[in-house]
Amino acid sequence: ALALAACSAGTGPATGTGNTAGSTQAAAAAKTLRLSLNQTEQHPSFIALKHFGERLATATNGRLGIQVYPNETLGAQAEALQLVGDGSVDLAIVSGSQLEKLNQDFSVFNLPLVFDSVESQMKVVNNLDVVGDLYKSLESSNQITVVGGFTQGTRSVYTSKGPVNTPADLKGQKIRVQDSPLAIAMVDAMGASATPMAFGEVYTALQSGVIDGAENNEVSYVTQKHLEVAKYFSRTNHLVGLDYLIINSGLFNGLSAEDRAAFDKEWAATFAEHTQLWAAETDKAVQTAEAAGAKFNEVDTAAFRAALEPLTAQYLKTDTQKALYEAAQSAAN
Ligand code: GCU
Repeated sequence: ALALAACSAGTGPATGTGNTAGSTQAAAAAKTLRLSLNQTEQHPSFIALKHFGERLATATNGRLGIQVYPNETLGAQAEALQLVGDGSVDLAIVSGSQLEKLNQDFSVFNLPLVFDSVESQMKVVNNLDVVGDLYKSLESSNQITVVGGFTQGTRSVYTSKGPVNTPADLKGQKIRVQDSPLAIAMVDAMGASATPMAFGEVYTALQSGVIDGAENNEVSYVTQKHLEVAKYFSRTNHLVGLDYLIINSGLFNGLSAEDRAAFDKEWAATFAEHTQLWAAETDKAVQTAEAAGAKFNEVDTAAFRAALEPLTAQYLKTDTQKALYEAAQSAAN
């Protein structure tokens, strides 16, 4: 069947006449890979991945395309791991916290102070000389290959009750975290009561008061509408977050050499585009949030750093983990 590359979920194939897909119409591809995403269509990841699909279809003369399913339509990230592994979904964007569950080594890049900026992060996480073995480490156990990384920008805490300045201000506050031991340890260390839950449940949990806040970047704060229900965004800047593009290993290793080369080349263009979009969309998100009444404040950075510092030693155990950490640290210079 004819399928569209990179249109959003629910948009049917173009019929030639009376086509309502409009500008989302991309080159049709003989094989359309399904990609699971938990962000909205306004998010930089959706935009960059949609373009990825369009370029891939062109580069492969229509042999290969990508359809991006946003908004957890194909399930939350924990399900995406399963579905990509068993091949019922081809690709997904998952947060580093998800991959920690499958291989502890991924936790190194989720350590609070490991990357000093988006720029150093991107230097490391798409350099296969550094991360090649890590990215193949889930192939035999889970049938998942990691293709590369997208930045999540810098994550901060936001709450409904008032600005946070020091770890003491977070005492007794339930702050939603991603579901991983490190994410929990991180927010507990910052003084709060970490509450793990799936991304898509956060808005309602904030609204109903089940949680007092969450931690994320400015872009998700706005695209998920969390600003409506948690108006104090306190710049703890505790983590440069990391998402990964994962693909079913059988599918990936089964691509022809030509299609694989096109995939790799277009992926490189994709994370570069994403990184650029990220900076612009972050600025825009802050403006949007402020216009809607959100309050941004600086915090006692030294106090939060001191609280987070001990986690590094706790999570660096093996030589592999130490080497990944060193690579991340040296990218800062
Ligand atoms: C960011 C990230 C997502 C992640 C989310 C979360 O938005 O890009 O991949 O799922 O944070 O906190 O769950």
